[in-house]
Amino acid sequence: MAKLELKDVRKSYGPVEVIKGIDLTIEDGEFCVFVGPSGCGKSTLLRMIAGLEDITVGTFEIDGDRMNDIAPAKRGIAMVFQSYALYPHLTVRENIAFGLKVRKTPKAEIDSLVNEAVTMLQLDKLTERFPRELSGGQRQRVAIGRAIVGQPETFLFDEPLSNLDAELRVHMRTQISELHTRLRRTMIYVTHDQVEAMTLADKIVLLRGGQIEQIGSPRDLYERPKNLFAAQFIGAPKMNIFELEGDFVSLRDQMQLPADAQYCGIRPDSFDIVPEGNGIMSATVRLVEYLGNTCLVHAQIGSHAPIIVEQPVGSKLIVGDQVALKTMPNALHLFTKDGCRIN
Ligand SMILES: Nc1ncnc2c1ncn2[C@@H]1O[C@H](COP(=O)(O)OP(=O)(O)OP(=O)(O)O)[C@@H](O)[C@H]1O
Ligand SMILES: [Mg+2]
Repeated sequence: MAKLELKDVRKSYGPVEVIKGIDLTIEDGEFCVFVGPSGCGKSTLLRMIAGLEDITVGTFEIDGDRMNDIAPAKRGIAMVFQSYALYPHLTVRENIAFGLKVRKTPKAEIDSLVNEAVTMLQLDKLTERFPRELSGGQRQRVAIGRAIVGQPETFLFDEPLSNLDAELRVHMRTQISELHTRLRRTMIYVTHDQVEAMTLADKIVLLRGGQIEQIGSPRDLYERPKNLFAAQFIGAPKMNIFELEGDFVSLRDQMQLPADAQYCGIRPDSFDIVPEGNGIMSATVRLVEYLGNTCLVHAQIGSHAPIIVEQPVGSKLIVGDQVALKTMPNALHLFTKDGCRIN
């Protein structure tokens, strides 16, 4: 069991507060993903949970017990880093067994735990190799193996896959997902990768500047972003945002938008491109990017920076075409002038 609770958790380095009051509950067995721009405090938060950084103010509890002053090794938490941090002079087997040996676990138990981990992670044939003889993905699996054998209640992952190439990332992502299904332990996972966040998370926590912007399921964040920041952070390509002034002031009447709507967001896949004169906005095609399964059309409206429209690959648009854009009223995300969601 490991239900994690952060209550008004803050962290300061000298006079600078970098974590500014986090209230967050992570349920037992939940897969929670932290996302947010670089420097927003994801790693710091993870390190405070692990006990590698002090909590300046606030409380961190596991199953109702205060952890602030409990040593990292006593929290039942294992952390997997972006840099695998393996011992170069130890074999795969010795690396995985290292922590157990330090804790003076009986040899038979070490062997059984290590064997189980190497089988689960498909490292059986590599146990006598040294880290330098492994690929990045294999090294990362050893690092995960080392975490598993400690039988922690909670796993923390800080961008574990960001050093891997695209194919290996997909493979390892699936393995981490399977690991969660199999062990049903509480996991917190930090990533910059949208696909990892969307596919792995039960719950996404979106951070900015040391504060939480939104907490919810991947679907909540994608379909009902709470504010302009969340709207533009989740989703690739990004949501297009129109300020309902100047070139776009006419959208208010055309779409019968409420008076307090100042910004309107429309995702690239929520537009249709239609012949000139038929849509709500006229545009000029500035660029067509062919991605194989889809096309990204950069369409310019007035002097506004081009907006991005996702189209089927069959579309015959070319640069310079005059077109119109159409959308459905239920595809609109509306925000006040302070950036808060309205609809
Ligand atoms: N030891 C430190 N002393 C002073 N400031 C620090 C220290 N460690 C981190 N910070 C600051 O705290 C803030 C949060 O850093 P953190 O490493 O948690 O960000 P992050 O969200 O993990 O970023 P990234 O996505 O780049 O890994 C940053 O502004 C960083 O400069
Ligand atoms: Mg970080």
